[in-house]
Amino acid sequence: MTKIRIAVQKSGRLNEDSLKILKDCGISIDNGKDQLKATSRNFPLEVFYLRNGDIPQYLRDGVVDIAIIGENVLIEKGKDISIAERLGFSKCRVSLAVPKNETYNSITDFEGKKIATSYPNTVKDYLASKGVTADLHIINGSVEIAPNIGLAYGICDIVSSGSTLFKNNLKEVEVMLKSEAVLAVSPTISEERKELLKKIQFRIKSVLQARQ
Ligand code: PRP
Ligand code: MG
Repeated sequence: MTKIRIAVQKSGRLNEDSLKILKDCGISIDNGKDQLKATSRNFPLEVFYLRNGDIPQYLRDGVVDIAIIGENVLIEKGKDISIAERLGFSKCRVSLAVPKNETYNSITDFEGKKIATSYPNTVKDYLASKGVTADLHIINGSVEIAPNIGLAYGICDIVSSGSTLFKNNLKEVEVMLKSEAVLAVSPTISEERKELLKKIQFRIKSVLQARQ
């Protein structure tokens, strides 16, 4: 029997809520902790546990049919990938921040400055829309440390509770975009699997409605 293949975040902020929404949809997954692939017992579905940043490429290549992923990751790396459903959890902002003691007036304060980020495309697009040119320094994690160690003037990263900014003596000065978890669809999904997607979407819609 044909199964639909879904990618979910292997570990991190979306993992737990992603599995929870599948469970609330009545889809049970046998979950060996270190397994990278699992199969549902009661729905024709396979789950692939992947790194966030890799998911857009897997969708593009048709290695998976659908994914639960942060919209911010699609904006950064998967603008060509379509969204079937907004899922209402893992809400966050993607923002620019500078040290608390900096006097900040406007986006032009970033002109010619160094910005540390894991979201280079998002920052580039945003700055370009404001006519500002900055020097991007790409790092993969712990971005908020950069201004404190003299690596950058400011940073661009995800802000959820704001506690990471606070702990690192930074202040949020520009909200570039707001994001939440979404159900994304591969551009190459087969007709047969589209039918399975419809069933899942129908269930998700009622789960989301019940949650309101
Ligand atoms: C993420 C993100 C921010 C932080 C935001 O980092 O990169 O640093 O969470 O959340 P908050 O506003 O609730 O503090 P994460 O902890 O996932 O680690 P990483 O950056 O090293 O990947
Ligand atoms: Mg971080």
